[in-house]
Amino acid sequence: MARAPGRIEFIGNHTDYNGGTVLGASIDRAVWVALARRADGLRRFRSDRSDEMVEQPAAHPRKLFGPASWVNYPLGVLAALPEFKLRAPAGFDYLAASDLPIGAGLSSSAAIELASGLVFLGAAGEDPPRDTLVTLCRHAENHFVGVPSGILDQGVSGFGLKDHLVFIDCRGPRFDTVPLPAGAHFWIFNTHTKHALVDGLYAERHRECMEAACLLGVKLLADVSPAELALVAQALAAADPAFAGGGGSPPAVVNTAGGTPALPQATLLKRARHVIEEIARVDAAVIALRAGDLTEVGRLLTASHRSSQLLFENSTPELDFLVDTLASQPHVFGARLTGGGFGGAVMALTDGTFGEAQAGVVAASYGKKFGILPDILHTRTANGAELK
Ligand code: GLA
Repeated sequence: MARAPGRIEFIGNHTDYNGGTVLGASIDRAVWVALARRADGLRRFRSDRSDEMVEQPAAHPRKLFGPASWVNYPLGVLAALPEFKLRAPAGFDYLAASDLPIGAGLSSSAAIELASGLVFLGAAGEDPPRDTLVTLCRHAENHFVGVPSGILDQGVSGFGLKDHLVFIDCRGPRFDTVPLPAGAHFWIFNTHTKHALVDGLYAERHRECMEAACLLGVKLLADVSPAELALVAQALAAADPAFAGGGGSPPAVVNTAGGTPALPQATLLKRARHVIEEIARVDAAVIALRAGDLTEVGRLLTASHRSSQLLFENSTPELDFLVDTLASQPHVFGARLTGGGFGGAVMALTDGTFGEAQAGVVAASYGKKFGILPDILHTRTANGAELK
Protein backbone atom coordinates (compact mmCIF):
# COMPACT_ATOMS: atom_id res chain seq x y z
CA MET A 1 0.00 0.00 0.00
CA ALA A 2 1.22 3.54 -0.69
CA ARG A 3 0.15 7.06 0.20
CA ALA A 4 0.88 10.14 -1.91
CA PRO A 5 -0.22 13.63 -0.83
CA GLY A 6 -1.88 16.39 -2.80
CA ARG A 7 0.00 19.64 -3.12
CA ILE A 8 -0.45 23.37 -2.91
CA GLU A 9 1.30 25.46 -5.52
CA PHE A 10 2.68 28.02 -3.07
CA ILE A 11 4.26 30.39 -5.59
CA GLY A 12 5.64 29.91 -9.11
CA ASN A 13 2.71 29.91 -11.51
CA HIS A 14 3.45 28.27 -14.88
CA THR A 15 7.16 28.59 -14.21
CA ASP A 16 7.93 24.85 -14.14
CA TYR A 17 7.74 23.96 -17.83
CA ASN A 18 9.59 27.21 -18.59
CA GLY A 19 12.68 25.97 -16.74
CA GLY A 20 12.11 28.24 -13.75
CA THR A 21 11.83 27.78 -10.00
CA VAL A 22 8.72 27.00 -7.95
CA LEU A 23 7.69 26.44 -4.32
CA GLY A 24 4.99 23.97 -3.29
CA ALA A 25 3.72 22.23 -0.16
CA SER A 26 2.62 18.60 0.18
CA ILE A 27 -0.53 18.53 2.30
CA ASP A 28 -2.35 16.28 4.77
CA ARG A 29 -4.85 15.09 2.14
CA ALA A 30 -3.79 12.17 0.01
CA VAL A 31 -4.48 9.27 -2.34
CA TRP A 32 -3.91 5.72 -1.03
CA VAL A 33 -3.40 2.78 -3.38
CA ALA A 34 -3.46 -0.88 -2.32
CA LEU A 35 -2.28 -3.65 -4.64
CA ALA A 36 -2.58 -7.46 -4.49
CA ARG A 37 -0.81 -9.64 -7.08
CA ARG A 38 -2.88 -11.99 -9.30
CA ALA A 39 -1.46 -15.06 -10.99
CA ASP A 40 -3.69 -14.87 -14.10
CA GLY A 41 -2.10 -11.72 -15.61
CA LEU A 42 -5.31 -9.70 -15.38
CA ARG A 43 -5.15 -6.11 -14.11
CA ARG A 44 -8.29 -4.99 -12.28
CA PHE A 45 -8.77 -1.36 -11.11
CA ARG A 46 -11.28 -0.01 -8.59
CA SER A 47 -11.62 3.28 -6.74
CA ASP A 48 -13.71 4.43 -3.78
CA ARG A 49 -15.37 6.99 -6.07
CA SER A 50 -17.23 4.52 -8.30
CA ASP A 51 -18.64 0.99 -8.37
CA GLU A 52 -17.19 0.31 -11.78
CA MET A 53 -14.37 -2.23 -12.09
CA VAL A 54 -11.97 -1.69 -15.01
CA GLU A 55 -10.13 -4.73 -16.39
CA GLN A 56 -7.18 -4.78 -18.77
CA PRO A 57 -4.86 -7.61 -19.79
CA ALA A 58 -1.23 -6.96 -18.79
CA ALA A 59 0.16 -6.79 -22.35
CA HIS A 60 -0.38 -3.17 -23.52
CA PRO A 61 -2.01 -0.45 -21.39
CA ARG A 62 -4.72 1.15 -23.50
CA LYS A 63 -5.95 4.72 -22.90
CA LEU A 64 -9.55 4.97 -21.65
CA PHE A 65 -12.24 7.61 -22.19
CA GLY A 66 -15.37 8.49 -20.22
CA PRO A 67 -16.01 7.83 -16.52
CA ALA A 68 -13.19 5.25 -16.24
CA SER A 69 -10.59 7.69 -17.53
CA TRP A 70 -9.14 8.11 -14.00
CA VAL A 71 -7.49 4.71 -14.67
CA ASN A 72 -5.28 6.47 -17.26
CA TYR A 73 -3.10 7.70 -14.37
CA PRO A 74 -2.04 4.23 -13.17
CA LEU A 75 -2.05 2.95 -16.77
CA GLY A 76 0.24 5.79 -17.81
CA VAL A 77 2.65 4.87 -15.01
CA LEU A 78 2.59 1.20 -16.09
CA ALA A 79 3.28 2.23 -19.69
CA ALA A 80 6.20 4.44 -18.59
CA LEU A 81 7.97 1.78 -16.46
CA PRO A 82 9.62 -0.12 -19.34
CA GLU A 83 10.62 3.19 -20.96
CA PHE A 84 12.59 3.87 -17.76
CA LYS A 85 14.04 0.33 -17.87
CA LEU A 86 12.01 -0.71 -14.83
CA ARG A 87 9.92 -3.87 -14.48
CA ALA A 88 6.12 -3.64 -14.08
CA PRO A 89 4.00 -6.14 -12.16
CA ALA A 90 1.88 -8.43 -14.39
CA GLY A 91 -1.56 -9.20 -12.93
CA PHE A 92 -3.02 -7.48 -9.88
CA ASP A 93 -6.08 -6.12 -8.11
CA TYR A 94 -5.75 -2.37 -7.57
CA LEU A 95 -7.77 -0.16 -5.23
CA ALA A 96 -7.47 3.63 -4.92
CA ALA A 97 -9.04 5.68 -2.12
CA SER A 98 -8.69 9.38 -1.45
CA ASP A 99 -9.67 12.26 0.81
CA LEU A 100 -8.27 14.78 -1.65
CA PRO A 101 -10.88 16.97 -3.33
CA ILE A 102 -10.80 16.46 -7.10
CA GLY A 103 -10.68 19.52 -9.38
CA ALA A 104 -9.62 21.82 -6.54
CA GLY A 105 -6.18 22.52 -7.98
CA LEU A 106 -4.57 20.27 -5.34
CA SER A 107 -3.28 17.81 -7.94
CA SER A 108 -5.10 14.60 -7.20
CA SER A 109 -3.70 13.39 -10.54
CA ALA A 110 -0.04 13.58 -9.46
CA ALA A 111 -0.97 11.96 -6.11
CA ILE A 112 -2.56 8.99 -7.84
CA GLU A 113 0.43 8.66 -10.18
CA LEU A 114 2.92 8.71 -7.31
CA ALA A 115 0.96 6.25 -5.13
CA SER A 116 0.50 3.95 -8.15
CA GLY A 117 4.18 4.20 -9.07
CA LEU A 118 5.24 3.20 -5.54
CA VAL A 119 3.00 0.11 -5.35
CA PHE A 120 3.89 -1.05 -8.88
CA LEU A 121 7.61 -0.68 -8.20
CA GLY A 122 7.23 -2.38 -4.81
CA ALA A 123 5.35 -5.32 -6.37
CA ALA A 124 7.95 -5.66 -9.14
CA GLY A 125 10.87 -5.56 -6.67
CA GLU A 126 12.24 -2.26 -8.02
CA ASP A 127 13.51 0.64 -5.90
CA PRO A 128 14.74 3.50 -8.13
CA PRO A 129 15.87 6.87 -6.73
CA ARG A 130 13.06 9.27 -5.83
CA ASP A 131 13.78 11.67 -8.69
CA THR A 132 13.39 8.79 -11.18
CA LEU A 133 9.93 8.02 -9.72
CA VAL A 134 8.94 11.69 -9.95
CA THR A 135 10.21 12.06 -13.54
CA LEU A 136 8.51 8.81 -14.57
CA CYS A 137 5.15 9.99 -13.19
CA ARG A 138 5.49 13.31 -15.03
CA HIS A 139 6.30 11.33 -18.19
CA ALA A 140 3.03 9.38 -17.69
CA GLU A 141 1.10 12.65 -17.40
CA ASN A 142 2.74 14.18 -20.50
CA HIS A 143 2.76 11.16 -22.80
CA PHE A 144 -0.11 8.88 -21.74
CA VAL A 145 -2.63 11.24 -20.14
CA GLY A 146 -1.55 13.92 -22.63
CA VAL A 147 -1.18 17.09 -20.52
CA PRO A 148 2.07 19.08 -21.18
CA SER A 149 2.52 19.86 -17.46
CA GLY A 150 5.82 20.55 -15.71
CA ILE A 151 7.43 18.77 -12.75
CA LEU A 152 5.75 20.77 -9.94
CA ASP A 153 2.93 18.41 -8.96
CA GLN A 154 4.85 15.15 -9.01
CA GLY A 155 7.96 16.82 -7.50
CA VAL A 156 6.08 18.23 -4.51
CA SER A 157 4.10 15.02 -3.85
CA GLY A 158 7.35 13.05 -4.11
CA PHE A 159 9.69 15.29 -2.12
CA GLY A 160 7.28 16.83 0.44
CA LEU A 161 8.33 17.23 4.05
CA LYS A 162 6.13 18.17 7.01
CA ASP A 163 6.59 21.82 8.10
CA HIS A 164 8.55 22.57 4.92
CA LEU A 165 7.96 23.83 1.42
CA VAL A 166 9.47 22.00 -1.54
CA PHE A 167 11.70 24.16 -3.74
CA ILE A 168 12.23 22.93 -7.29
CA ASP A 169 14.70 24.27 -9.80
CA CYS A 170 12.85 22.73 -12.72
CA ARG A 171 15.72 22.77 -15.15
CA GLY A 172 17.70 19.99 -13.39
CA PRO A 173 15.31 19.22 -11.98
CA ARG A 174 16.81 19.81 -8.54
CA PHE A 175 14.70 19.34 -5.41
CA ASP A 176 15.22 20.99 -2.02
CA THR A 177 13.16 21.94 1.03
CA VAL A 178 12.72 25.28 2.81
CA PRO A 179 11.41 25.41 6.41
CA LEU A 180 7.97 26.97 6.74
CA PRO A 181 8.11 29.65 9.47
CA ALA A 182 6.09 28.77 12.58
CA GLY A 183 2.62 30.29 12.65
CA ALA A 184 2.00 30.08 8.89
CA HIS A 185 -1.36 28.56 7.96
CA PHE A 186 -2.89 27.55 4.62
CA TRP A 187 -6.55 28.00 3.80
CA ILE A 188 -7.94 26.71 0.51
CA PHE A 189 -11.14 28.11 -0.98
CA ASN A 190 -12.35 25.82 -3.75
CA THR A 191 -14.68 27.63 -6.16
CA HIS A 192 -15.78 24.42 -7.89
CA THR A 193 -15.61 26.38 -11.11
CA LYS A 194 -13.70 24.90 -13.98
CA HIS A 195 -13.37 26.41 -17.40
CA ALA A 196 -14.82 23.98 -19.94
CA LEU A 197 -11.61 24.19 -21.96
CA VAL A 198 -9.24 24.03 -19.02
CA ASP A 199 -6.88 21.40 -20.51
CA GLY A 200 -6.90 23.17 -23.88
CA LEU A 201 -6.20 26.53 -22.25
CA TYR A 202 -3.29 25.07 -20.26
CA ALA A 203 -1.81 23.68 -23.48
CA GLU A 204 -2.41 27.05 -25.19
CA ARG A 205 -0.47 28.91 -22.47
CA HIS A 206 2.30 26.31 -22.77
CA ARG A 207 2.49 26.97 -26.52
CA GLU A 208 2.45 30.75 -26.03
CA CYS A 209 5.37 30.49 -23.60
CA MET A 210 7.40 28.44 -26.10
CA GLU A 211 6.63 31.01 -28.82
CA ALA A 212 7.57 33.84 -26.48
CA ALA A 213 10.92 32.14 -25.78
CA CYS A 214 11.45 31.83 -29.53
CA LEU A 215 10.64 35.53 -30.00
CA LEU A 216 13.20 36.39 -27.32
CA GLY A 217 15.80 34.11 -28.91
CA VAL A 218 16.14 31.68 -26.00
CA LYS A 219 15.25 28.03 -25.46
CA LEU A 220 13.24 28.62 -22.28
CA LEU A 221 11.83 31.78 -20.70
CA ALA A 222 13.89 31.12 -17.54
CA ASP A 223 16.93 32.16 -19.63
CA VAL A 224 15.74 35.80 -19.65
CA SER A 225 16.04 38.17 -16.66
CA PRO A 226 13.36 40.78 -15.85
CA ALA A 227 15.84 43.55 -16.84
CA GLU A 228 16.58 41.92 -20.23
CA LEU A 229 12.88 41.54 -20.91
CA ALA A 230 12.25 45.22 -20.12
CA LEU A 231 14.92 46.18 -22.68
CA VAL A 232 13.32 44.01 -25.39
CA ALA A 233 9.88 45.45 -24.66
CA GLN A 234 11.30 48.99 -24.94
CA ALA A 235 12.97 48.21 -28.27
CA LEU A 236 9.79 46.68 -29.69
CA ALA A 237 7.72 49.66 -28.55
CA ALA A 238 10.19 52.06 -30.19
CA ALA A 239 10.02 50.12 -33.48
CA ASP A 240 6.26 49.72 -33.51
CA PRO A 241 4.01 52.38 -31.93
CA ALA A 242 1.03 50.01 -32.21
CA PHE A 243 2.84 47.67 -29.88
CA ALA A 244 3.16 50.40 -27.26
CA GLY A 245 -0.59 50.83 -27.37
CA GLY A 246 -0.52 53.79 -29.78
CA GLY A 247 -3.15 52.26 -32.07
CA GLY A 248 -3.34 53.04 -35.78
CA SER A 249 -2.05 49.80 -37.24
CA PRO A 250 -2.65 46.22 -36.10
CA PRO A 251 -0.17 44.91 -33.53
CA ALA A 252 2.97 43.18 -34.76
CA VAL A 253 2.66 39.44 -35.12
CA VAL A 254 5.15 36.64 -34.79
CA ASN A 255 5.70 34.51 -37.87
CA THR A 256 5.04 30.89 -37.02
CA ALA A 257 5.95 28.13 -39.44
CA GLY A 258 3.05 25.85 -38.44
CA GLY A 259 -0.64 26.13 -39.19
CA THR A 260 -1.59 27.84 -35.91
CA PRO A 261 -2.45 31.53 -36.22
CA ALA A 262 0.35 33.93 -35.34
CA LEU A 263 -0.06 35.64 -31.99
CA PRO A 264 0.39 39.33 -31.37
CA GLN A 265 3.82 40.07 -29.94
CA ALA A 266 2.20 42.09 -27.16
CA THR A 267 0.37 38.97 -25.94
CA LEU A 268 3.52 36.88 -26.04
CA LEU A 269 5.45 39.52 -24.10
CA LYS A 270 2.72 39.64 -21.44
CA ARG A 271 3.00 35.86 -20.97
CA ALA A 272 6.80 36.12 -20.88
CA ARG A 273 6.70 38.94 -18.35
CA HIS A 274 4.47 36.90 -16.03
CA VAL A 275 6.79 33.89 -16.12
CA ILE A 276 10.05 35.84 -15.86
CA GLU A 277 8.88 38.08 -13.01
CA GLU A 278 7.24 35.11 -11.29
CA ILE A 279 10.58 33.28 -11.19
CA ALA A 280 12.07 36.38 -9.52
CA ARG A 281 9.17 36.32 -7.01
CA VAL A 282 9.86 32.66 -6.17
CA ASP A 283 13.50 33.45 -5.47
CA ALA A 284 12.49 36.47 -3.36
CA ALA A 285 9.99 34.27 -1.46
CA VAL A 286 12.74 31.79 -0.55
CA ILE A 287 14.80 34.64 0.94
CA ALA A 288 11.78 36.03 2.84
CA LEU A 289 10.86 32.54 4.14
CA ARG A 290 14.39 31.94 5.40
CA ALA A 291 14.19 35.33 7.16
CA GLY A 292 10.79 34.39 8.66
CA ASP A 293 9.23 37.46 7.02
CA LEU A 294 5.68 36.26 6.34
CA THR A 295 4.45 39.79 5.56
CA GLU A 296 6.84 39.97 2.61
CA VAL A 297 5.98 36.39 1.56
CA GLY A 298 2.29 37.33 1.56
CA ARG A 299 2.96 40.45 -0.52
CA LEU A 300 4.71 38.28 -3.10
CA LEU A 301 1.80 35.80 -3.16
CA THR A 302 -0.76 38.49 -3.90
CA ALA A 303 1.56 40.05 -6.50
CA SER A 304 1.76 36.62 -8.14
CA HIS A 305 -2.02 36.52 -8.38
CA ARG A 306 -2.20 40.00 -9.92
CA SER A 307 0.30 38.89 -12.53
CA SER A 308 -1.79 35.77 -13.32
CA GLN A 309 -4.87 37.96 -13.53
CA LEU A 310 -3.46 40.71 -15.76
CA LEU A 311 -0.53 39.23 -17.67
CA PHE A 312 -0.98 35.47 -17.92
CA GLU A 313 -4.79 35.77 -18.00
CA ASN A 314 -5.40 32.42 -16.34
CA SER A 315 -7.59 33.74 -13.53
CA THR A 316 -11.39 34.03 -13.37
CA PRO A 317 -13.80 36.54 -11.77
CA GLU A 318 -14.48 33.99 -9.00
CA LEU A 319 -10.79 33.58 -8.15
CA ASP A 320 -10.20 37.36 -8.35
CA PHE A 321 -13.11 38.02 -6.01
CA LEU A 322 -11.74 35.61 -3.41
CA VAL A 323 -8.24 37.10 -3.62
CA ASP A 324 -9.60 40.67 -3.35
CA THR A 325 -11.75 39.72 -0.36
CA LEU A 326 -9.03 37.74 1.41
CA ALA A 327 -6.28 40.28 0.78
CA SER A 328 -8.29 42.97 2.58
CA GLN A 329 -8.85 40.82 5.69
CA PRO A 330 -6.81 41.05 8.90
CA HIS A 331 -4.58 38.03 9.69
CA VAL A 332 -4.16 37.27 5.96
CA PHE A 333 -0.60 37.67 4.66
CA GLY A 334 -1.54 37.12 1.01
CA ALA A 335 -3.66 35.09 -1.39
CA ARG A 336 -3.41 33.73 -4.91
CA LEU A 337 -4.84 31.17 -7.27
CA THR A 338 -3.10 27.83 -6.85
CA GLY A 339 -2.41 25.50 -9.79
CA GLY A 340 -3.04 25.87 -13.49
CA GLY A 341 -5.84 28.44 -13.14
CA PHE A 342 -8.95 28.95 -15.30
CA GLY A 343 -11.02 28.01 -12.21
CA GLY A 344 -10.13 25.83 -9.25
CA ALA A 345 -9.00 27.18 -5.90
CA VAL A 346 -7.44 30.13 -4.11
CA MET A 347 -4.86 29.66 -1.36
CA ALA A 348 -4.52 32.13 1.49
CA LEU A 349 -1.49 32.31 3.77
CA THR A 350 -2.67 33.42 7.22
CA ASP A 351 -1.52 33.64 10.81
CA GLY A 352 -2.90 31.35 13.51
CA THR A 353 -5.65 33.82 14.51
CA PHE A 354 -7.49 33.40 11.20
CA GLY A 355 -10.16 30.78 11.91
CA GLU A 356 -13.37 29.10 10.74
CA ALA A 357 -15.50 32.16 11.58
CA GLN A 358 -13.41 34.53 9.49
CA ALA A 359 -13.18 32.00 6.63
CA GLY A 360 -16.97 31.73 6.84
CA VAL A 361 -17.34 35.50 6.37
CA VAL A 362 -15.22 35.33 3.20
CA ALA A 363 -17.25 32.35 1.94
CA ALA A 364 -20.54 34.13 2.69
CA SER A 365 -19.58 37.23 0.72
CA TYR A 366 -18.57 34.97 -2.18
CA GLY A 367 -21.90 33.16 -1.84
CA LYS A 368 -23.77 36.47 -1.97
CA LYS A 369 -22.08 37.37 -5.24
CA PHE A 370 -21.98 34.01 -7.02
CA GLY A 371 -24.94 32.16 -5.46
CA ILE A 372 -22.87 29.20 -4.27
CA LEU A 373 -20.51 28.72 -1.34
CA PRO A 374 -16.88 27.73 -1.88
CA ASP A 375 -15.51 24.70 -0.01
CA ILE A 376 -13.08 25.67 2.73
CA LEU A 377 -10.10 23.54 3.65
CA HIS A 378 -7.61 24.37 6.41
CA THR A 379 -4.66 22.23 5.37
CA ARG A 380 -1.33 21.46 6.96
CA THR A 381 1.91 20.31 5.41
CA ALA A 382 2.67 16.57 5.44
CA ASN A 383 5.44 14.24 4.32
CA GLY A 384 5.73 13.22 0.69
CA ALA A 385 4.74 9.94 -0.99
CA GLU A 386 5.66 6.71 0.84
CA LEU A 387 5.25 2.97 0.59
CA LYS A 388 3.43 1.76 3.71
C1 GLA B 1 -0.62 22.59 -13.21
C2 GLA B 1 0.51 21.74 -13.79
C3 GLA B 1 1.86 22.14 -13.18
C4 GLA B 1 2.09 23.65 -13.28
C5 GLA B 1 0.86 24.41 -12.79
C6 GLA B 1 0.96 25.88 -13.04
O1 GLA B 1 -0.78 22.30 -11.85
O2 GLA B 1 0.26 20.37 -13.57
O3 GLA B 1 2.90 21.42 -13.80
O4 GLA B 1 2.43 24.01 -14.59
O5 GLA B 1 -0.34 23.95 -13.39
O6 GLA B 1 2.03 26.43 -12.33
